[in-house]
Amino acid sequence: MAVNSRKVVIVGCGFVGSASAFALMQSKLFSEMVLIDADQRRAEGEAMDIGHGMAFASPMKIYAGTYDDITDAAVIVITAGANQKPDETRLDLIRKNSAIMKSIVGEIKKREFHGILLIVSNPVDILTYIALKESGYPANRVIGSGTVLDTGRFRYELGEHLGVDSRSVHAYIIGEHGDSELAAWSDARIGGLPIHDFCELRGHYDHDASMDRIFNNVRNSAYEIISRKHATYYGIAMAVCRICSAIVRDERSIMPVSSLMTGEYGIQDVVLSIPSVVDANGIEAVVPIELSEKELDALRNSANVLKKIIQENS
Ligand SMILES: NC(=O)c1ccc[n+]([C@@H]2O[C@H](COP(=O)([O-])OP(=O)(O)OC[C@H]3O[C@@H](n4cnc5c(N)ncnc54)[C@H](O)[C@@H]3O)[C@@H](O)[C@H]2O)c1
Repeated sequence: MAVNSRKVVIVGCGFVGSASAFALMQSKLFSEMVLIDADQRRAEGEAMDIGHGMAFASPMKIYAGTYDDITDAAVIVITAGANQKPDETRLDLIRKNSAIMKSIVGEIKKREFHGILLIVSNPVDILTYIALKESGYPANRVIGSGTVLDTGRFRYELGEHLGVDSRSVHAYIIGEHGDSELAAWSDARIGGLPIHDFCELRGHYDHDASMDRIFNNVRNSAYEIISRKHATYYGIAMAVCRICSAIVRDERSIMPVSSLMTGEYGIQDVVLSIPSVVDANGIEAVVPIELSEKELDALRNSANVLKKIIQENS
């Protein structure tokens, strides 16, 4: 069956799935959206509630469906699974969510599906790896939201610090979406200027202290939000929307989604985030940005952390 580039499926309609559905409805990217959840009534309720906003946005079909509705979809966004509890790391979620991911991919595999699998559930890098192996799809079609959200947080923090539009900040968080992630400072630029030059233009000279503070704010964001409101969902919903836009509009946008490494920086057979060109086929290319020795070590450490978890759970 031909892919309908205007159709999206969301599997998992909790906080993240429903916020993503709401953001996607407003984005006007799709004309058909299928919501699937283990709790069918939850999916029905979300479809009704979000559908009632349509009169103020653009017409589209939104309904609670089943896996039989996936076959012509361009993107399946998987947001099913338990979320992170206070004091729980993303990696603690592995046992619960890997079983859920295997069952969902099992259902998808029983049907014809030629679109992109976008994994959001945590730990996203591990679950993307599992989805890739279980599905047998080519690696370009199985991507994780990775550090797209963390990078958004990083750009936000830098924008606030420097009094500049966060969209003018080109700087990435890479590696694991989690505790071993790192900021690629050596590649960071604001409006084309190397980051330290721009900082000094704005009267900031204490680079080391600022870099520590900003990176810690980014890395601890999820913990800080969860300790206050028990879940995070609006930021990730916008990230999902942005990734879907790059896919369905064939934008060739560069963003740090997570994907299978095949020798980049000497790393392979693990899924993590490196800036990548995203188009209608998913990952068109990985962009191996220049890293300092220290960053390279941190990236390889991040890969090792993830590899160890994969080995322990396979
Ligand atoms: N990647 C990111 O940047 C990011 C950010 C925030 C949250 N998350 C992750 O997203 C996931 C969802 O978080 P949440 O806050 O929405 O959780 P939630 O508990 O609110 O929702 C999870 C939903 O998944 C459904 N579900 C469970 N098993 C299912 C199955 N087998 N098939 C279909 N649906 C199933 C549940 O019924 C529930 O509605 C978590 O793993 C969380 O850690 C990722």
